Amino acid sequence: MEAMPDAFILGIESSCDETAAAVVRSGEQIMSSVVASQIAVHQPYGGVVPELASREHLRAIVPVVRQALADAGRSYESIDALAVTQGPGLAGALLVGISYAKALAFALEKPLIAVNHLEGHIHAVLLEERQKGNCDLRFPLLALVVSGGHTHLYLAQQRGQSWSYENIGHTRDDAAGEAFDKVAKLLGLGYPGGPVIDRLAAHGDPRAVKFPPSQIKHPDRRSSFTAKASAAADPGERARTLVPTRSRPELGSRSSGRPRPEGHPHFDFSYSGIKTAVVRYVEVHNLKDFVEARRKALGAISKPTLEDYLANCDQQTLDLVASFQRAMVEDLAGKTLAAAREYDVATLFVTGGVAANNELRQTFERQAAHEGLPVYFPSRQLSTDNAAMIAAAAYPKFLTREFAANDFSAEAGMALRNEKPEA
Ligand code: KG4
Ligand code: ZN
Repeated sequence: MEAMPDAFILGIESSCDETAAAVVRSGEQIMSSVVASQIAVHQPYGGVVPELASREHLRAIVPVVRQALADAGRSYESIDALAVTQGPGLAGALLVGISYAKALAFALEKPLIAVNHLEGHIHAVLLEERQKGNCDLRFPLLALVVSGGHTHLYLAQQRGQSWSYENIGHTRDDAAGEAFDKVAKLLGLGYPGGPVIDRLAAHGDPRAVKFPPSQIKHPDRRSSFTAKASAAADPGERARTLVPTRSRPELGSRSSGRPRPEGHPHFDFSYSGIKTAVVRYVEVHNLKDFVEARRKALGAISKPTLEDYLANCDQQTLDLVASFQRAMVEDLAGKTLAAAREYDVATLFVTGGVAANNELRQTFERQAAHEGLPVYFPSRQLSTDNAAMIAAAAYPKFLTREFAANDFSAEAGMALRNEKPEA
């Protein structure tokens, strides 16, 4: 293969509640990666408050970028290009990163590359595999992007330097991470929910509570798909949520230029029903007073430890948490593996914040091994939002000189689709 010139790309990410900057060499080596989390700011509200997120990004962006350059031992002038998340995400939050990246690129006279956040999550895996020396991934490649805003399945292809993506499934309502966050919130476990539930689930019985299977209707093809975990979707739920908790718009449902093979089903997800089932469980078992007591007790501790959480959880709650996680993981793995079989893929990626989940990783590893399918995850640091993945996703675009126009702006509902129409 022809040797490519080295390129140092400064990535900037500000789509939700992390302000991040990173320097990545040629899409394969992380020179630095700085992430300033806003969790402490949003925690009292039980979810991300968009106005606060924008304000915090404004505060953090300059020092975070400076730190990323210092850690990488690079000056502003020695960067070859800048990359920034264009969308999807919170409009105001995205605008902070974009405005700053534009100004910096203009002042330095460097090219600027606009990156889709979801493509970034996929390239987090590619970046780390290349860093390990694994450049030999087989296609077709199926990627599950599972985060606070997304539960999306993509078939990814590489032609020359260019990547293209076809969406073959997405959530009809809540994203998986959103379900973790909402369930943790309604059990008085605080925000964000995923990491807490991950740790508490190990202390409960995952078979204690049964969640009924649900039907996802596909009116367009008059077929249905049975989901193990969730009950009926609850489209009104988001409107009733007081604090907008990472409710990014539904994305990527538009199909790409390539027609889907005849008869191939769409592998959609639905997680609002399982959350409603947890609400009902709390009501039926009169747990509300316990939940409120826990919320108060944990709220009074600035950084609760696992022991603090355990001291405030009875066995029934731990069993509920473990059962919820098991149902989520089985649904995600079951549908993704079914899609992998249907599309006869050779490689599986699981990426995004929820990919940090221990049980999820073990289940995917076990089930994929059973089918002889190689499965790759990012490291835990690169599973959640970061800017190294944005700089890595920008490298192929740097090589093909796909630079952003001066007037590009945030696209809160940006879909990931084929970059170039196929001939
Ligand atoms: O990718 P990410 O950092 O941001 C988005 O693009 O949304 O994902 C954040 C989501 C949150 O919903 C968080 O609760 C979830 O990922 N998450 C986890 C774990 N760590 C983070 N969910 C389950 N288990 C975890 N260990
Ligand atoms: Zn993300």
